[in-house]
Amino acid sequence: MCESKISASMMCADLVTLKETIEIFEKKKVDYLHIDVMDGEFVPNFGLGVDYIRGLRALTKIPLDIHLMIRNPEYKLQWIGIKESDIVSVHYESTYQVQRVLDWLAPFGCKRFLAINPATPLYVLEEVLDYIDGINLLMVNPGFAGQKIVKSTLHKAEKLQEFLKTNGREDVLVEVDGNITPENGAKLRKLGASIFVAGTSSIFKGHVSTYGNSIDEFRTMIR
Ligand code: DX5
Ligand code: ZN
Repeated sequence: MCESKISASMMCADLVTLKETIEIFEKKKVDYLHIDVMDGEFVPNFGLGVDYIRGLRALTKIPLDIHLMIRNPEYKLQWIGIKESDIVSVHYESTYQVQRVLDWLAPFGCKRFLAINPATPLYVLEEVLDYIDGINLLMVNPGFAGQKIVKSTLHKAEKLQEFLKTNGREDVLVEVDGNITPENGAKLRKLGASIFVAGTSSIFKGHVSTYGNSIDEFRTMIR
């Protein structure tokens, strides 16, 4: 199983202390910055857009893990400023043309992930396994930080591991997003997850000066 990676959920970051936060993430070698792009339609919330991404790129070289929670993402890819070192997740539920959006992502050279909501069954992955590098398994209904895990998603992660094995695709990376506490992270690591979205459940707690310690503790649990 490949090394575990931390993707810090930037919708949880306080803009007032953003620079300090990024400096801590660089020092602690956080692997990705998770960017929840929300259009107020695919999910009820709005958030992190093109200008935010551009601003963040000016602050740091940490690669981005861009989670597109927007309707019909295939027509919006060119605005985002995707780089080869990024991960881009598109939702199965966000378009009738899932294979097309994965095809149109290919020229950007990024890692292509398919995100699925808690109630979406694993069999939808079957026909697109050839076009993806990873799966973003939503452990909550996306759109808001600070939610509780949908219990059935833990069993789903176990089934996903079996599914990938049966299909000879254990190389497909598994990311887990939503309420990833250190305890949930540890459970999910045993079930094959390797990218962990770290939000209010792990590293964004209390004063910014404590984030470094929280990162260390979280890393120990998902090792
Ligand atoms: C969902 C978001 C949040 C985010 C916040 O797409 O990405 O779940 O990770 O993390 P938590 O759930 O820990 O507040
Ligand atoms: Zn997300």
